[in-house]
Amino acid sequence: MSFPDIRPRRLRRTPAIRRLVEETRLSPAELILPLFLKDGITEPKPISSLPGVVQHSRESLLKAAHDAVSAGVGGLMLFGVPDNADKDETGSAGLDPDGILNVGVRDLRSEFGDATVIMSDLCLDEFTSHGHCGVLAADGSVDNDATLEIYGRMAVAQAEAGAHMVGPSGMMDGQIGVVRRALDAAGHQDVSILAYSAKYAGAFYGPFREAVESTLQGDRRQYQQDPPNLREALREVDLDVAEGADIVMVKPALPYLDVIAAIRERVTVPVAAYQVSGEYSMVEAAAANGWIDRERTILETLTSIKRAGAQITLTYWATEVAELIG
Ligand code: PBG
Repeated sequence: MSFPDIRPRRLRRTPAIRRLVEETRLSPAELILPLFLKDGITEPKPISSLPGVVQHSRESLLKAAHDAVSAGVGGLMLFGVPDNADKDETGSAGLDPDGILNVGVRDLRSEFGDATVIMSDLCLDEFTSHGHCGVLAADGSVDNDATLEIYGRMAVAQAEAGAHMVGPSGMMDGQIGVVRRALDAAGHQDVSILAYSAKYAGAFYGPFREAVESTLQGDRRQYQQDPPNLREALREVDLDVAEGADIVMVKPALPYLDVIAAIRERVTVPVAAYQVSGEYSMVEAAAANGWIDRERTILETLTSIKRAGAQITLTYWATEVAELIG
């Protein structure tokens, strides 16, 4: 009988040895907490398909933001949930300085100044009556160029409200360039762009639709990417970097680790990933049934996303995980 000369198990023997050789280590600063602010409510409202996540009132938003910042979370991404009555064909409530998203950005910025990074979702789907990420052409498709013009003005409104970073998530062609030029022309050269570069039209956004009370009929396959495609994501990323993206993002995260890894190899800007609502809810649902160990699973998913190459991760677990590992 011959024995192995080399024994990888030696480095797995004790927790201290494993800790010493650990290749990927999560830290609170790389986690961003997405938050939902709903117009006209005074108490936070649970989202049934996202257990543990709520639609915030203005007051509870600040409290949740404080908890996140104290835990060391790296930034906050805000989504607005307007009244149904304020939705229209062009999503005008998204541009209104007194629209719910801009109000929330202003609240956060005046509360925190530069002590955290305040980001705003730059998309029309929460604000349009039809729920699409842009305005519609006569044939019912999303009109790319008419939408771009609105994104430019929306970005300026968000910058004026105090966003450090805007997150164009609509997957319109040319959106990063248009947003960059609009910000610069309005004197907001210092506001950065977190580009949702490779955003897939998959099935993982279901619970988010409840969170923002989406009115969408149909789907987003004419503008978001087709899940089988990787090379197409590289093309999108190249364009976004050329147009001025400061950070590029892949979304969802766990089903697209190969995309994250390929982009990480390709670009020198930071790479982010969005662990989306469906990824969150799958784990919560399985854990609630006692089928998996909740905490270990959460940490394993986030570690995997980082190991694949994401330097920043948006996750609804940001505060909890930051407290756990901080
Ligand atoms: C679009 C947007 C979506 C999400 C973030 N930004 C929804 C969509 O593209 O359909 C989904 C995030 C999640 O599922 O957690 N504004």
